[in-house]
Amino acid sequence: MKIAVFAGDGIGPEVTAQAVRVLDALAIAGLERVEGDVGGAAFYKHGHPLPQATIDMAHGVDGILFGAVGDFSCDHLERALRPEQAILGLRKELSLFANLRPAKLFAGMEGFSALRPEVASAIDLLIVRELNGDVYFGEKGIRKLPDGRRQGWDMMSYAEDEVARIAHAGFKAAQGRAKKLCSVDKANVLETSQLWRDVVIEVSAQYPDVELSHMYVDNAAMQLVKSPGQFDVIVTGNLFGDILSDQASMCVGSIGLLASASLGTRQTPYGTVGLYEPIHGSAPDIAGQNKANPLATILSAAMLLRHSLGLEAQAVRIEAAVARTLADGVRGGDLGGTATTTEIGDAVLARL
Ligand code: NAD
Ligand code: IPM
Ligand code: MN
Repeated sequence: MKIAVFAGDGIGPEVTAQAVRVLDALAIAGLERVEGDVGGAAFYKHGHPLPQATIDMAHGVDGILFGAVGDFSCDHLERALRPEQAILGLRKELSLFANLRPAKLFAGMEGFSALRPEVASAIDLLIVRELNGDVYFGEKGIRKLPDGRRQGWDMMSYAEDEVARIAHAGFKAAQGRAKKLCSVDKANVLETSQLWRDVVIEVSAQYPDVELSHMYVDNAAMQLVKSPGQFDVIVTGNLFGDILSDQASMCVGSIGLLASASLGTRQTPYGTVGLYEPIHGSAPDIAGQNKANPLATILSAAMLLRHSLGLEAQAVRIEAAVARTLADGVRGGDLGGTATTTEIGDAVLARL
């Protein structure tokens, strides 16, 4: 079993360090770990946010634990050299098209949601976000119109096979949960979304046990804060899934709590090759201050054990330790507490 840790920028190294401590504490026999450079850190060291050596390393492991990328000092660079290209490039390079972003309210955390406690308490949902297509990967540019005005443009598109494979991922996820799938789109305006909806309906014929519904993304944003308990699995495109998952994080208390798994179809001897990361970014405003919540990254490590290494029992152990850490009132600044990044890591280790 071999995993890679790509810590990246800002709070990335701080939060991955705590997840690595947790993995080390489990002392998993035969687990080898390597480290690679990504993001702004890789750019300043090697001149590229996703060096070939990192890509090669990514191809040789069962799973990747990813911190975060993003460095404002790189925002003036041409897009291909910006830190964010590291995560976008890895998702594409490894064909990791299915991004699972679970959001569940931890016991006793009702008072820390941005929603009223009785609304928040019902949250147990999974966002299945498509990760290889949409407006993210279409042609784009800034051009001059004939009259001299500048125009920014980004091409949004989904091919039917791209929609079908993420629809299958959504239906399968729902089969393992409460068997409800809500497909979120903007079919009332976008042709891309009309095809999305048509294909999701076609695929649904193969999953008669799953109750399928459709919702426009603007309404979904509203319903997510009005009555999030109505959702089981949400399947949606790359852009809508990015936005709705940040919103879901505040419904359970903090973006520092939301983990993710990005999966494709390549199998390891124990599961599926995947990349695991918190849904948050490099948080430059708190970077280097030992203030970041590492729980999303620790929970991402649990997802790595579950999906890529087949170590379900170890994943559950980590998740239980995180739940007890929160139940015991160990909270960082993002949840109104005073615990530092390392203290939260200490607390999880103690409960493991
Ligand atoms: P962000 O997620 O980094 O931060 C948003 C807010 O949430 C900030 O106030 C931050 O302090 C807070 N926050 C985030 N994670 C936290 C944690 N673990 N604990 C406590 N507080 C936390 O989003 P942003 O500010 O929009 O972006 C910053 C940079 O990160 C940008 O360069 C962006 O492109 C990048 N980014 C990268 C990823 C990724 O690597 N997958 C994801 C999102 C954003
Ligand atoms: C995320 C991030 C990334 C995305 C950025 C950094 C490219 O926001 O993982 O949610 O938009 O997918
Ligand atoms: Mn995002």
